Amino acid sequence: MEKLVSARELKKLFGKVEAVKAVSFHVYKNEIYGFLGPNGAGKTTTLRMLTGVLKPTSGDTEICGMDVLQRPIDVKFVTGVVPDEPNMYENLTGQEFLEFIGSVFSMKKEKLNQRVEELSDAFDVNFLGKFIGDYSHGMKQKLMLISVLMRKPRVLFLDEPTVGLDAKSAKILKMLLRKYANEGSAIFMTTHVLEIAEKMCDRIGIINKGELIAEGTLSELRSRSGKESLEDIFLNLTGEDEIKEIVDNL
Ligand SMILES: Nc1ncnc2c1ncn2[C@@H]1O[C@H](COP(=O)(O)OP(=O)(O)OP(=O)(O)O)[C@@H](O)[C@H]1O
Ligand SMILES: [Mg+2]
Repeated sequence: MEKLVSARELKKLFGKVEAVKAVSFHVYKNEIYGFLGPNGAGKTTTLRMLTGVLKPTSGDTEICGMDVLQRPIDVKFVTGVVPDEPNMYENLTGQEFLEFIGSVFSMKKEKLNQRVEELSDAFDVNFLGKFIGDYSHGMKQKLMLISVLMRKPRVLFLDEPTVGLDAKSAKILKMLLRKYANEGSAIFMTTHVLEIAEKMCDRIGIINKGELIAEGTLSELRSRSGKESLEDIFLNLTGEDEIKEIVDNL
C-alpha cells in the first residue's frame, strides 16, 4: 500500500509543555484516518505540523514522498487543509476568494467555475457574492471546504470538519470524503464525534496527552480492548471511565 502521509517521531514543545510527544503514523492511499483525543490532547498541533504550518521541535513529515519542510510548495500543490477555525480574507467576497485560490493553484477558469457550481449546489451555498466578513461560522466553513475540494487534492487534512455544518452538508461531506478516498486520496481528519470515526474512518489513532496510545481499525481496537463500542474503548484508554463517579459527585 502506498503511503501518502508519513509522520516520524513528531514532537512539539510549547515552552515546557510537551504538546506532542514523538508521534509516528502513516496514512495510506484510499484511506480515511481518524484522529481522536480529548480536548488539548495534541490533535490540532499534530495536524499543523503535518501540513507545515508549525515547525516540529523534532521529527519530520513526508507527503507523497516529499519532506514537508524541504519542499513546501510541491507539498502544498498536492495537499488540501481545512482548519478548525477558518481564517480568510474578510474583505473579499466568497467568489473572489475562490478565484484567488484557483489562480494560486493554476486552475483553469472553466474547471474552477464548474467545480464551484457543483460544490455550491451540494452544500447549498448561495452567498458567494457576499463579503466573507459577513459570513457565519458555518458559511466560512463551507467556503473553506469548497476552496479545498474544488482542487481535489491527493491528500486532505481536516480539523473537526463537521463542526458547524448542518446535517445535510455534513452528510454530503462524509460521502464526498469516502468518494475521494476511493478514488485514490488519503484523508487525515480529527473528530470528537465518535460516531463519525466509527462509520467513516478506515483506521483510527487515539492521542492522549501528546501520545499516540492506540491505533488500528475499529475491529482491531475492539479485540485489543475487549470493548464493543468506540465510546467505551476511547473512554477506557483516555482514562475517563470514572465518569459515573464524577457525575454522581456533581
Ligand atoms: N500556539 C500554542 N502555544 C502554546 N501552547 C499551545 C499552542 N497550541 C497548542 N498549545 C497547547 O498544546 C496542547 C495541545 O493543543 P491542541 O490544540 O493540539 O489540542 P487538540 O487535541 O486539538 O484539542 P481540541 O480537541 O480542544 O481541539 C494544549 O496543551 C495547548 O494548550
Ligand atoms: Mg483541536
